[in-house]
Amino acid sequence: MFTHAIVRRPCSRLRDGLTSAELGTPDYDKAIGQHDTYIEALQQCDLRVMILPADDRFPDSTFVEDTALLTPACAITTNPGAETRKPEAELIRGSLQIFYPQLEQIEEPATLDAGDIMMVGNHFYVGLSGRTNQAGIDSLTGILAFHGMTVTTVKMRDMLHLKTGLSYLENNNLLICGEFLQNPLFDSFNQIVVPPDESYAANSVWINGTVLVPAGYPKTRAAIEQAGYETIALDVSEFQKIDGGLSCISLRF
Ligand code: GLY
Repeated sequence: MFTHAIVRRPCSRLRDGLTSAELGTPDYDKAIGQHDTYIEALQQCDLRVMILPADDRFPDSTFVEDTALLTPACAITTNPGAETRKPEAELIRGSLQIFYPQLEQIEEPATLDAGDIMMVGNHFYVGLSGRTNQAGIDSLTGILAFHGMTVTTVKMRDMLHLKTGLSYLENNNLLICGEFLQNPLFDSFNQIVVPPDESYAANSVWINGTVLVPAGYPKTRAAIEQAGYETIALDVSEFQKIDGGLSCISLRF
């Protein structure tokens, strides 16, 4: 179970966020409204939410998930793979130290975006992606091993982050789509397959038995409910425009 979440308010330079999506420019005011509703949903799932202020220096800084891995045993700040995002890890450290006095750190030349990390109990699947390099995975593996946790590397082909196409919903249930469907690493999960026309919804978030899903993907939402979960649908269209998924917008621990 999670008890806390951390979010950072979207900044006024949101439109400058990195993106490969061709969905238009995010509307700042609309993004603020969507962020308000996102926070309310976290609170509805019994999380205490720490809300960090916007930082106009870093357009992608609302995507706090990429900056840290928080486990029951330890916390690690990352070294994001995109040049413009690297300072975001340092930016979050002070807030994390309130909860984790001793923070580990991924350092150059290792790079790691925590959007590439999927936690399954004490085991972590980590995407070798355009953002996360082998040195990043090796550093993470060493830190987690010290705390009795293990890592499986997932070689990636197309997707931005591992959790762009995979979300673990606990109880061995896995939302899965795209390039991961053919990967035998995931054969032993109960797979809830996300259809290609709803692939954005493969990034959904389990929180204390409820699953947050992006609004507008009815087949995926129905499949998650069919698996026994309550869902909350959230409109995050303005974040999607800069390649942000639901999970990217918070750290949960
Ligand atoms: N815009 C989110 C990212 O590229 O990391």
